[in-house]
Amino acid sequence: MAKIVAGVGMSHVPAIGVAIDSGNTDDEYWTPLFAGFEKSKQWINDQNPDVIIVVYNDHATAFSLELIPTFAIGCAAEYDIADEGWGARPVPRVVGHPELAWHMAQSLVLDEFDMTIVNNMEVDHGLTVPLSLMFDQPQEWPCPVVPICVNVVQFPPPTGNRCFNLGKAIRRAVESFDKDLKVVIFGTGGMSHQLQAERAGLINSQFDNDFLDMMANDPKKAAAIPHVDYLREAGSEGIELVMWHVMRGAIDEDAKEIHRHYHVPASNTAVGHIILENKK
Ligand code: DHB
Ligand code: FE
Repeated sequence: MAKIVAGVGMSHVPAIGVAIDSGNTDDEYWTPLFAGFEKSKQWINDQNPDVIIVVYNDHATAFSLELIPTFAIGCAAEYDIADEGWGARPVPRVVGHPELAWHMAQSLVLDEFDMTIVNNMEVDHGLTVPLSLMFDQPQEWPCPVVPICVNVVQFPPPTGNRCFNLGKAIRRAVESFDKDLKVVIFGTGGMSHQLQAERAGLINSQFDNDFLDMMANDPKKAAAIPHVDYLREAGSEGIELVMWHVMRGAIDEDAKEIHRHYHVPASNTAVGHIILENKK
């Protein structure tokens, strides 16, 4: 049987990708940020997962305002790296896991989560930056990826609770897949950031750290945070944090915290990161 063994929450700031791609990770500005991922790289290397489910949002790259799936699942064999305006990132193509993804699509829809099925999609920084933070710059990514996209770009995004329950359904889907696969799930986006208008540059470290505490200790309370709280406390793009609840719902409620990192600033954004492992 396939099994989700751990969840990883992490920001997906595009400037982090630029720093890695241009070899600037040793700059004074970036060292404290990347230092917090050293343990994570070791951890994922030791875990050696067969598949990673990456929950992220497309930033009007593959989808546009013409078509906005609330929840989508990538069932493709491969995903090209998107050109987000400065050329495609020089990272390997992302290899999918169509067999698991189609099984998940069937399980999720029959479990009453009406996923949009995506057979062709370019992936943006929301998916590639987390892979780079965990795996550096390999020739090939070490394992296939099943992308799960969540709309957080156009109001109304799904509620935290809906995301949490999607995570539970993802777990049921994975655990009913008839092959021994070790699966890790990433929830990406956030932490506090606002990229536009009067409050651009907003950082709320208190909110972010409380959120990390809740991720570790009280995931149901975290999932109940209403949209307006994200907007008020974490800025307009802080709403990306709802995607962490998908990851959190997919692992045990009493999962063990293995590692945590919080750093400000990365571009206009606070970066948060947590690794949670199922005990058994
Ligand atoms: C930025 C973009 C993001 O998608 C994000 O999550 C954080 C920061 C940016 O453009 O700086
Ligand atoms: Fe983002």
